[in-house]
Amino acid sequence: MSSFPDGFLWGAATAAHQVEGNNLNNDWWRLEQVAADYGVQPSGDALDSYHRYREDMQLLSDRGFTAYRFSLEWSRIEPLPGKFSRAELGHYRRMIETARELGLDPIVTIHHFTHPLWFDDRGAWLWDGAVDAFVQYVEQACTILHDVRWIITINEPNVLAITHGGQRQVAMGNPYPQNALPDQEIGDALIAAHRAAAPVVRRLTDAKVGWTVANQALTATSGNEEKFAEVQYLIEDKYLEVSRDDDFVGVQSYTSQPVDADGIVPHPPADDNTLMGWAYRPDALGIAVRHTHDVLGGDVPILVTENGIATDDDERRIAYTTTALRDLAAAIADGADVRGYLHWSLLDNFEWGHWGPTFGLVAVDRESFERRPKPSLDWLGTVARRNAVED
Ligand code: FCB
Repeated sequence: MSSFPDGFLWGAATAAHQVEGNNLNNDWWRLEQVAADYGVQPSGDALDSYHRYREDMQLLSDRGFTAYRFSLEWSRIEPLPGKFSRAELGHYRRMIETARELGLDPIVTIHHFTHPLWFDDRGAWLWDGAVDAFVQYVEQACTILHDVRWIITINEPNVLAITHGGQRQVAMGNPYPQNALPDQEIGDALIAAHRAAAPVVRRLTDAKVGWTVANQALTATSGNEEKFAEVQYLIEDKYLEVSRDDDFVGVQSYTSQPVDADGIVPHPPADDNTLMGWAYRPDALGIAVRHTHDVLGGDVPILVTENGIATDDDERRIAYTTTALRDLAAAIADGADVRGYLHWSLLDNFEWGHWGPTFGLVAVDRESFERRPKPSLDWLGTVARRNAVED
């Protein structure tokens, strides 16, 4: 058995727009309506987790998991500029209290990809009022977060800076750009937003504060080391380095890609590609954690805030996660300070325009909203209770 440190957190993650349903007032909902002709599917009722969150958390609690990561939906909390909804803040406060009641540490993401329509209409992250507006929202969010232990300001700024411009690409039928780099201006705005928001969260709560970075586990092809270093900085290290000033960093890892003279090499078609079209790389997590540790040194604790696989073969999910966890245990043994593992995802959810790529430990009937746990949920629950994975 490979064991994990005492107090290691075990859980699963979700994001508001992917599970709640009827987030009518955000940029993604709008995109879903205009891009329908290009194969983008609507989120609709999603999984109705807005109402069924207790049932979702119970699935984890019953099996001995100790953490649940979920996000707040900005467009619900601030439906109009400067107008904050007490009722919606109350809703997310009840989620925090429910998690606690069920023995789960709530890990809260303040911003997970979506923003209100009014923010979009003003130019979103390129609007010169963006950082101030975000900080105002964060201040209000903190009124319900005072006792939360782990808070993520922004999820995957490095992907947000791709997909923000990339929403147009979604509309053009290219939902998953596999070689795009972040838009520098949007990336810089997100860095400024995080740097402004993190001290506010630190002042108003007792939490460890950080953000999460999509770790690409990039590798250099021979002769292209310079290009590799350039690309790795632009897409990843620039965002990891920001975490030097934080209390932790979230590592999110799914796959690995080589870099050649032209940049990141898109995943070649292969029989064992996942339902995202990504290469099957269960070793990516170990590479990602070691790289993050190299960039930040030992001073910034790591939380694995996402890792998983889009597959309709649950045995494959277990095989993928087994390897990922063994590699994680080995990285910890070699000195990485990792505090927990949150699987993406608890539920088969709305994968940003598509219902096909299923990442869940639990399937959901989208007519009745019935939750149907897969064997992987019990399997990962056993790993959590033992705090160890089979060798
Ligand atoms: C990450 C996102 C998450 C989910 C997974 C598959 O980029 O944070 O919402 O879409 O990828």
